[in-house]
Amino acid sequence: MTVLIHPSILSADFVNFQSEFSTIRNADAIHVDVMDGHFVPNLTFGLPMVKRMAEIAELPLDVHLMIENADELAYAYADAGAKSVSFHQEASTEPVSLARRIRASGALASIALKPGTSVDFVLDNLDEFDMVLIMTVEPGFGGQKFMEEMLVKVSAARAEISRLGLPTSIQVDGGIDERTIVQAAQAGANCFVAGNAIFAKTDRISEIEKLRNLAQNNTPN
Ligand code: DX5
Ligand code: ZN
Repeated sequence: MTVLIHPSILSADFVNFQSEFSTIRNADAIHVDVMDGHFVPNLTFGLPMVKRMAEIAELPLDVHLMIENADELAYAYADAGAKSVSFHQEASTEPVSLARRIRASGALASIALKPGTSVDFVLDNLDEFDMVLIMTVEPGFGGQKFMEEMLVKVSAARAEISRLGLPTSIQVDGGIDERTIVQAAQAGANCFVAGNAIFAKTDRISEIEKLRNLAQNNTPN
């Protein structure tokens, strides 16, 4: 299983994205948190910004949509050049059709679950998604405490993905640091978002390598 490290630019300097991107060159993708002030009580940026980021970024964009009405709005981010688009199950009435539209636009389709949402629907429809994003904090803000109790969802998803022999990635997002990445990797996650843990450091390249090694060394066989 390949370990992927995706720094979240929610913790970056919003008026200097281009130079911030150059400090995380050894990451696998840039995690871009789109928040609409309704689905979550915080507001970041939308489609025009993401389009421009896709033009200037050397790494692929992993867009995490925390927006209402995902069915209408999500596939446009795939058209804008995102490599993967995560939409929340709670914000979609037709998650399977939406994932199919995202895939048809050429991006990877990912379904995200808030902490209170059961993983059951995802387990029954795993082949429709390239990635499952299991939130390990309430979405909305960086720098929150990791919710260890979310790891049961990670283990359940990993067991089913293995049983079916699927290539689906499991992403964890929220409170990931040098301690919690070990727990998440042991539970079966392979894609790790980290905002504060990376951007609070001056040497982000080293921190990314450190997190990558910790995850690799704790990935079950
Ligand atoms: C929270 C966002 C996260 C956030 C993670 O709603 O989805 O991507 O940036 O930040 P940390 O790693 O600081 O918890
Ligand atoms: Zn996120």
